[in-house]
Amino acid sequence: MRGEVICLGIESSAHTFGVGVATSSGRILANELAVYRPVDSGIHPREAAQHHASVAHEVLERALERAGIGLREVDAVAFTAGPGLGPCLRTGATVARALAYRLNRPLVAVNHGVAHIEIGRLSTGFRDPVVLYVAGGNTLVTTHNAGRYRILGETLDIAAGNCLDAFGIKVGIGPMPAPELLASRGERYVPLPMKVKGMDVSFSGLLTRALSLARTGHRVEDLCLSLTEAVYSMLTEVLERALALTGKKEVLVVGGLARSRRLSEMVSRMVGLHGASFRQIPDDLLGDNGAMIAWTGLLMYLHGMTVPIEESRVRPRYRIDEVEVPWMADPSRS
Ligand code: FE2
Repeated sequence: MRGEVICLGIESSAHTFGVGVATSSGRILANELAVYRPVDSGIHPREAAQHHASVAHEVLERALERAGIGLREVDAVAFTAGPGLGPCLRTGATVARALAYRLNRPLVAVNHGVAHIEIGRLSTGFRDPVVLYVAGGNTLVTTHNAGRYRILGETLDIAAGNCLDAFGIKVGIGPMPAPELLASRGERYVPLPMKVKGMDVSFSGLLTRALSLARTGHRVEDLCLSLTEAVYSMLTEVLERALALTGKKEVLVVGGLARSRRLSEMVSRMVGLHGASFRQIPDDLLGDNGAMIAWTGLLMYLHGMTVPIEESRVRPRYRIDEVEVPWMADPSRS
C-alpha cells in the first residue's frame, strides 16, 4: 500500500450502514455493512438511524481489520451527504466528522447517486456509460456531459423500487424480490396503465391500478407478472431513448433494483440491438455500500473536493446534477 492514497467511506442513507476502504489504484480493501430490517417491512427513519448508531463501531472495526490497516493509515474520510433519510444520513455524517477530527484528516461529502455510478464504472471498466439508476428511493436516467452527470429522465412521482416494494407489502407477500419471484408463477398479463413521457416515467397510477385489481380478486401471481413487466418495460424504454439520443456505447444499471434478473435480461437485449455493451456490477457493489462512498470520496479528495467539518451538512434531497465530476473531463483517461 506504500505510495497509495487511502480513503475510508461511510454509507448510511437508508437501510444500510456500510464502511468501505478504497485505494488510489482502484482497489477495494474492505466493504463491510450491517442492514436494518424492520419487522413490518416499512422503514422508520429514526429506528434505522438508531440501528446505524448501534452498529457503527463494530462495522468500522470489521472494515479496518478486513483492509489490514490502522486508522492512522487513512488519508481521507468520506460520508454520504445525500440523498437519503435525514436521521440516517446524520448518523453516518457524525461518525465521519468524529473520525476526521480525531485523525486530523480531510472530510469528503459524497453524493450517493454519483457513488453508485462511480463504483459501477470502476467495477466494469466502462468509461462513459448511459446509466439507469433504479432503487427503492431513486429512479433516473443519466449520463456525463460537460462536467456533470446530467439527468435525462426521472420518475415524476414514486421510485420504481418503491412501486414494487409497496405492492408486495400491501398484498402481503413482502417487498422485492418477492414480487419478482412470484411473477414466475403468473399465467396471464393484466393490462396496466404504463406512463412514459419523453424520458420521464410515472409509477403511482400503475401501483394504484394493480392494488385495486388485487382487491377485486385478481390472482396476485398474475398481478406480480404484469406489474414487474410493466415497470421494467418502462425503464428499458427510457433507457433506450437515452442511448439513442446520446449515441453512447456503454450501459450500466445501478442501485438495488439492478439485482433484478428480468430487468437485466430486458436491458441486455435492448442494448444488444443498439450495438452497445451492457455489463453487470458485482452483487456486493450493487446495493448501498461503503466501498462506493470510499471510492468516490477518493476521486473527490484527489480533485481537492473536501469540506470543512463545520460546513459538512447532510442534504436529504441532494441531486446528482449538482455535483461536479472533474475526473470525467477526459473519461478515456479516468
Ligand atoms: Fe442507493
